[in-house]
Amino acid sequence: MSDSPLITSLRAEARDAPESGIVEVFNYGRNRPGLIPLWVGEGDLPTPDFVVAAANQSLARGETFYTYQRGIPELRQALADYHGRLLGGQFPAERFFVTGGGMQAIQIAARMVAGTGDEVVIPVPCWPNITAAVAISGARPVPVPMGFGNAGWTLDLDRLFDAVSDRTRAIFLNSPSNPTGWTATRAELEAIRQFAAKRGLWIIADEVYGRFFYEGPRAASFYDIADRDERILYVNTFSKNYAMTGWRIGWLSAPIELGQTIENLIQYSTSGVAAFMQRAATVALNEGDAFLEMQVARAREGRRICCSTLAATGRVRLAEPDGAFYLFFAVDGETDSRSLALRLVDEANVGVAPGIAFGDDTGFMRICFARSASQLEEAAGRLAEWLKPA
Ligand SMILES: Cc1ncc(COP(=O)(O)O)c(C=O)c1O
Repeated sequence: MSDSPLITSLRAEARDAPESGIVEVFNYGRNRPGLIPLWVGEGDLPTPDFVVAAANQSLARGETFYTYQRGIPELRQALADYHGRLLGGQFPAERFFVTGGGMQAIQIAARMVAGTGDEVVIPVPCWPNITAAVAISGARPVPVPMGFGNAGWTLDLDRLFDAVSDRTRAIFLNSPSNPTGWTATRAELEAIRQFAAKRGLWIIADEVYGRFFYEGPRAASFYDIADRDERILYVNTFSKNYAMTGWRIGWLSAPIELGQTIENLIQYSTSGVAAFMQRAATVALNEGDAFLEMQVARAREGRRICCSTLAATGRVRLAEPDGAFYLFFAVDGETDSRSLALRLVDEANVGVAPGIAFGDDTGFMRICFARSASQLEEAAGRLAEWLKPA
């Protein structure tokens, strides 16, 4: 940490925000010829043409002015319809709020429920932006280590509940999880919901990978069990389902009563998402089912390739992930994921994300398998070759 007066005079929460441990490896290897990048959380497909066309048409129509803070009515209705199709039942458009990516949805959710002196309980390993967003809000992220064993990744609910103190305001649950792929069962969600309700806690439910589930049509959701006016804030995004990571558009879903508060927080941060992006997102939801299904099928094949190739080396510990599009694996005898990720750039020409960036200090590493089968075969083959005993 710099001791420059410019830096030390900053607000502590801003000053102490951590540099992403994924970016360090990315910067180290970004220009390597032929490197296969499995370190970032996105697929290799561009946004489909019909979605791009909707944005172009909106711009050509002159939709370049300030727009609704909560989202354009057409997109909020499309979100309501999408949730109805996916989850059954009726969803009012008023409970959906369009945000600058899932990231801004996380930020707003964290700011609404936790601040200085508060705690937010979060299972780890977890995507570093979640803990960082909570810390920047002023609250203290309280990590709850997940277990890894024969049953794969598990969350010990007693351990989760024991981490709750008088200061806890919220439980943040990302299921399916980035980076482990762990996916809560309906029974686990119900237990967490009941505990949270008893203790008056909020739940921030990050369900951005809910469609990338390999044991059924979709992952279990808090929507399956909870009433609409409970203390649950749902974080979601267009980034993954519709290959729109670079657009920066997502949504928050919350009890209607919170509408004005959420509108205010959007107003005083981004002042809303550009109308042309919202037009594209509307089309993605209304017409994007086939594209999404194709992406899930591709990820399923990617998961098979990565898991089987690495498992066959006999030198890794891994569990086939139930959801999301990441494999979190460890190499026998290697406990320093940062230095291993840097070595894999040099020695295997494959980019992996070090587990230390996700709060795991036991040597796990994350690869993203939302890519073409041929690239994954090549990348997993290189890793397997590197893993061969000398
Ligand atoms: C668990 C999780 N939540 C939220 C997001 C946010 O997605 P975005 O801000 O790209 O829409 C991501 C992206 O990687 C994620 O992995």
